[in-house]
Amino acid sequence: MSRIVLEGISKIFGSKQAEGVDLIKQGKRKAEIAAACGAVVGLCNISFDIVEGEILTLMGLSGSGKSTLLRCMNRLVEPSCGRIAVGDVDVTKLGRKDLLAFRQKTFGMVFQHFALLPNRTILSNVGFGLELKNVPVARRTEAAMQAIELVGLKGWEAKYPHELSGGMQQRAGLARALAADAEVLLMDEAFSALDPLIRRDMQSELRDLQRKLKKTIVFVSHDLDEAVALGGRIVLMKDGEVVQIGQPEEIVARPATEYVARFVEHIDRAAVMRVGQVADRSAAVLAPTLTVAEARIRIAGEGGDAWLVADDESRFVGCLRADRLAAARPEETVASLLGAGSDAVVADARLDAVLARVAAEGCVAVVDPDGRLLGAVGSRDVVRALAAHSAESHATGHDADYPETSILQTTAGAERWTGPSRNFPSTRSATKASTGSPTMALG
Ligand SMILES: Nc1ncnc2c1ncn2[C@@H]1O[C@H](COP(=O)(O)OP(=O)(O)O)[C@@H](O)[C@H]1O
Ligand SMILES: [Mg+2]
Repeated sequence: MSRIVLEGISKIFGSKQAEGVDLIKQGKRKAEIAAACGAVVGLCNISFDIVEGEILTLMGLSGSGKSTLLRCMNRLVEPSCGRIAVGDVDVTKLGRKDLLAFRQKTFGMVFQHFALLPNRTILSNVGFGLELKNVPVARRTEAAMQAIELVGLKGWEAKYPHELSGGMQQRAGLARALAADAEVLLMDEAFSALDPLIRRDMQSELRDLQRKLKKTIVFVSHDLDEAVALGGRIVLMKDGEVVQIGQPEEIVARPATEYVARFVEHIDRAAVMRVGQVADRSAAVLAPTLTVAEARIRIAGEGGDAWLVADDESRFVGCLRADRLAAARPEETVASLLGAGSDAVVADARLDAVLARVAAEGCVAVVDPDGRLLGAVGSRDVVRALAAHSAESHATGHDADYPETSILQTTAGAERWTGPSRNFPSTRSATKASTGSPTMALG
């Protein structure tokens, strides 16, 4: 398994390669280059790393360069300039024969249209890549059957593609990529042709498979909800450039440009935000040894449905409901009022996973991976997080609502991406004129 490194990748389509690359090096962008010499810019100076074992989604509107970038990774599309390395192999330097072998060994591809061979059974389709590699039939069959089982198609191996539904055909397409045991799966709009319910199942199954098999997956999608459901970093593209890279909650909390802010405007915030981002960290914390009288003094003047209780090492002990505290006798201790232990959640849990508990329990305690109390999510914090318009914190230049994204487990590798490389106005007003509408037709 290896890290993929992209360095200064540009792609000019058509005959004006040298001119186009020259203009890119001068800092010109897609529209300017088209106007200057008519060259079609597919990709414009792209650099970032893909961490081994991550699932990364290339996102963007139709024509933003997602497929071109994906195909540059295994040189199905030849980049006009730049360097691609997979582990210690410089893919851009491979000769034709080595490239073919390396591509076959390292990359599996899954497309929107399943590209199954109609006159072959599912088993034979799934084993097809191995057949091309002259793997003996017994080993081929074993590997193909394993992959068929992994994608939940066991029992269908003797059928022909036309006997399977669209979703099942796409499972077969995925099995074919898995059977070859490639390190990296490149998936281009792989689920876009599927019905919504099936599509959602496939997204969560792919996420589970990825965790289990620890493959590196680069997934192209124009659908933000799909990118969120896949659960990894998102690379947001526009006009052949990378506009922002990050976990969805980072992009929502800190959109790099007005364009990004508008792109993520309608995202399901509860599915994206982490409880650690939303938690109130200034909430009063009570010691279990306090008496009710002492506790009342401690929280005098503060509102809330429940209070956090933690020991003197910040370890979470429980939540004390405000109504229980109000009804208790002054000499009782806080510890004696705690009900059956309510569990704290870790900071990187998604907000939507705790909504029901916040509603039922008044608040949910949030802890770090060592069990130390960070704060609490109450109903007011939920409403604030869901109502917050990301563009507002972007505009005012501070993220008062999300001060603690740094505690999140962000994927290493993002740091090599140095932000929009050039010419990205950082304020709303400056970008207003130049941004296209992110709500225009997708796909
Ligand atoms: N083979 C090609 N010849 C000429 N232009 C191309 C070719 N493939 C892609 N393009 C252009 O490159 C840009 C990016 O395309 P593509 O990578 O297919 O976008 P996406 O996958 O995001 O929809 C578009 O402007 C598209 O028209
Ligand atoms: Mg495409």
